[in-house]
Amino acid sequence: MPKKQRDNNWRPATVAIHGLGRLPKAHYAVSTPIMQTSNYYFDTAGDVYEFMKAKGEGRVIREHEYGRYGNPTQEECERKLAAVEGAGRAVLFSTGMAAVILTLMTYMRRDGHIIFTSDCYRQTRDFATNFLSKFGIPVSVVDPDARSIDNAIRPETNIIFTESPTNPYLRCLDLPAIVEVAKEHKVMTIIDATLATPYNIKPLEMGVDIVIHSATKYLGGHNDLLAGVSLGSRDLLNDLYRTQRMIGAVPGPLTCFLLERGLKTFALRMEQHNRAGLAIARMLEAHPKIEKVWYPGLESHLDHKIASSQMKGFGSVITFLLKGGDSETRKFIDALELFLITPSLGGSESLVTQMSTMSFFDYPEEYRGEIGMVDNLVRLALGLEDEDDLIADLKQALGKI
Ligand SMILES: Cc1ncc(COP(=O)(O)O)c(C=O)c1O
Repeated sequence: MPKKQRDNNWRPATVAIHGLGRLPKAHYAVSTPIMQTSNYYFDTAGDVYEFMKAKGEGRVIREHEYGRYGNPTQEECERKLAAVEGAGRAVLFSTGMAAVILTLMTYMRRDGHIIFTSDCYRQTRDFATNFLSKFGIPVSVVDPDARSIDNAIRPETNIIFTESPTNPYLRCLDLPAIVEVAKEHKVMTIIDATLATPYNIKPLEMGVDIVIHSATKYLGGHNDLLAGVSLGSRDLLNDLYRTQRMIGAVPGPLTCFLLERGLKTFALRMEQHNRAGLAIARMLEAHPKIEKVWYPGLESHLDHKIASSQMKGFGSVITFLLKGGDSETRKFIDALELFLITPSLGGSESLVTQMSTMSFFDYPEEYRGEIGMVDNLVRLALGLEDEDDLIADLKQALGKI
């Protein structure tokens, strides 16, 4: 039995370390042991019989039988993630995209209709527009705002799926307004809050049904693992839990260990990400070589008011347009010393991408133009280096163009 249950108001830093309370661990280890096993043995054939009988009657006499149905390191990680989000249940997947796709596949219906927003992670957009049509699932892709979502509702709509903030323009949606519309029409709301994290936003407290994170990003936090998680009430996620056990697209025990370990510094890391994000966004906005900056913490951002009303901080992803074209943008990126040229975000190392080549190279040029993927669009994902060093690096690289 846990020594202490959650009968207190622990703050985020404490919950990220202790979850809801102290749980018994093998050998009284402080850190969660990595249970590297694919299956669990029974002593006798009779034990199997008793286990199956109890399971059929809804009793638990021992927990594990086979790796695809659960692993203690994974389950400890899920408990911790649920505590951090304030959710009844967390269901882990091997990547953020596995969490997105398997959550949608669990709750979508052929006679339903899903609303997506146009600015969103590229692979989610591809799944919505190219993949779901193969199964005859009707979808609408609308502007990322509550009114466009409301206008797109049909009698058969059963899911609203969006990100907040969106990737890459960091649009922030009025979640309480979307929830109100969704409840009126009995539609499920699913929010990918990867860029906000549970440190900066709590969509479930605003009435959202399911929150998804690519745990590859801020939750893992060190650019060294891939994972995804869906969170919501225990009852609602029952079906998703079944999908997880059926498909087994789960992170292995070592990844779960690393993810849970990353959570111990989650609140500290987010404080630094938020501080550096705002400081660097302001510096860029004032720089003569920059045309435009997208960062929800800036007053110039379209959704600044919404973001300020529902977020504690704005994270460390900053998107901007350089003055110049392809060659100036490449020159700037190549001159950076601290930023690694790679996709992803939310880790300890700062990253930079020229969006048109890194994420949208295979899209036809006219489509890239349509969605604003111009050659001078750059995305920074700040890491945990000293922000003054990052500012100095950005300024010296901008000085070279
Ligand atoms: C908002 C968002 N959702 C989902 C994903 C997918 O996560 P993963 O790479 O862990 O599959 C990403 C990846 O960048 C993302 O930015």
